Amino acid sequence: MSDPPTQQSQTAWWETAVVYQVYIRSFADGDGDGLGDLVGLRKRLPYLASLGVDALWINPWYPSPMADAGYDVADYRDIEPAFGTLAQAEELIDDIHASGMKVLLDIVPNHTSSQHLWFQAALAGDETARARYIFRPGQGSDGELPPNDWHSVFGGPAWTRVTTAEGTPGDWYLHLFAPGQPDLDWSHREVVDEFEDVLRFWFDRGIDGFRIDVAHGLSKADGLPDAGLREVGSLHTEPHPAWDQEGVHEIYRGWRRVADSYDPPRIFVAEAWVPSNERLAKYLRSDELHTAFQFDLLRAPWRASSMRDVIDDAVAAADSVGAASTWVLSNHDVVRHATRYARSQPPHLVESAWDRSRWGVESPDLELGTRRARAAALLTLALPGVGYLYQGEELALYEVEDIPSALRQDPTWVQSGYTDPGRDGCRVPLPWSGEEPPFDFSPSGASAQPWLPQPAEWASLTQQAQEKDPTSTLSLYRSALRLRGELWEGLTAPQWIESRDDVLAFRRGAVECWMNTGPDELPLPTRQVLLASQPLTDSGALPADTAVWLVSA
Ligand code: NOJ
Repeated sequence: MSDPPTQQSQTAWWETAVVYQVYIRSFADGDGDGLGDLVGLRKRLPYLASLGVDALWINPWYPSPMADAGYDVADYRDIEPAFGTLAQAEELIDDIHASGMKVLLDIVPNHTSSQHLWFQAALAGDETARARYIFRPGQGSDGELPPNDWHSVFGGPAWTRVTTAEGTPGDWYLHLFAPGQPDLDWSHREVVDEFEDVLRFWFDRGIDGFRIDVAHGLSKADGLPDAGLREVGSLHTEPHPAWDQEGVHEIYRGWRRVADSYDPPRIFVAEAWVPSNERLAKYLRSDELHTAFQFDLLRAPWRASSMRDVIDDAVAAADSVGAASTWVLSNHDVVRHATRYARSQPPHLVESAWDRSRWGVESPDLELGTRRARAAALLTLALPGVGYLYQGEELALYEVEDIPSALRQDPTWVQSGYTDPGRDGCRVPLPWSGEEPPFDFSPSGASAQPWLPQPAEWASLTQQAQEKDPTSTLSLYRSALRLRGELWEGLTAPQWIESRDDVLAFRRGAVECWMNTGPDELPLPTRQVLLASQPLTDSGALPADTAVWLVSA
């Protein structure tokens, strides 16, 4: 390869970063209990730094009864003992910075754990504590019916009735997720103050920002009206009184003031499932949040036209408020994309639960899915803005669909009445090296098994196996991450290049990305090839399900 063009960028780090999502319980186990932890993550920092990512986002690491894998927080100012200690966390933050990376934590403000001191006090009858949650009397002659018709995202009613100190049935409390995750009442000033203080607690320890869990859920419509036929499903493509209410914006204006009071200012990325990109852009106004996950690419089928529409819409919406776009293919809540792309592709954007419903119905062609996943990686890393990588996608890990029911841990499985297998399949511990499970996820001699079983077939996908192979997916990601910083101009919008309907081709600055989602090879212009997800044909054509980066004419 000769002298690729270089980019001149004036952007802030968080506008063009590649952020690697560390799902801590499945990343690396340092103490041999089968659960990932801080010691394990610290040991693997050299791997992450050498991969070429700019920042880590670490999923919740706080004390938790694990009703929802840590998204049920019992104490926002400490570390779950199974993961480590606060002192270890402080050392880890320093080490991440010393390795040249930033660190984002995950804050969970919509709900606490039912074991949180506040909720325990509320259950014990403390009126001040009760007012911080959403308790309501039930409907019906004896209050035996829930206060409204809302459903939990995980299935079943969003309300649970408590028992009074006298042992009689009492009021109901709202939980949009599991019963172990009571929703907070954000119209209460103490809730607002508490979370601003939690932000400061971690900012004071040097973290660079937060990913905000369920950022669209904090305010509920006045009077908690019935939702009618509208489902409280995870995508929220319809307006719903539980989601995306105007009140959330005032909360984030307060958070922004806290973040801006630090030098350098700290940043936020919102997990906000809202009905449109116009609604999403409201979270990104200059006095609110910095970025928000744009999930449509993750929902798009493997089809050039769908992906192009999604990209155009996302870029235009972010641009309308001067924000950077974000690109996500996988995370800990959705079917891994190597498996999503391994089945027949729907005509519309999918919901992950829809995808999970096809398990056992249509077997995946994982060779095809992996081929497409590699191409999709080159697409997303060529787009303007922030790229999020979910741990293991750089190893081409696929969804583990045959986890025995008895080992499933995601509350979705039980709350859906055993109809939705849930999200465990994308959360299986990483394979690092060796020929058989636990693939060095736990230290040698560990007595405990990984918290979810790893497939024996992952022997060929371990980090160690892929390091040696220049054609591996890990090698592809390493090359793409190295070249991305050198080649692609930060926020320049894609300029589309006319091509076949099943081809996505665009120029940004001095580089082009071409992706062929169709079955027929595509002749390419004769140009310097910078990187390709598969070898081109002998005549230099782009094969099916392949992407390439070329120097522009
Ligand atoms: C979104 C998180 O990503 C998911 O894992 C969690 O179950 C819900 N929010 C509830 O906190």
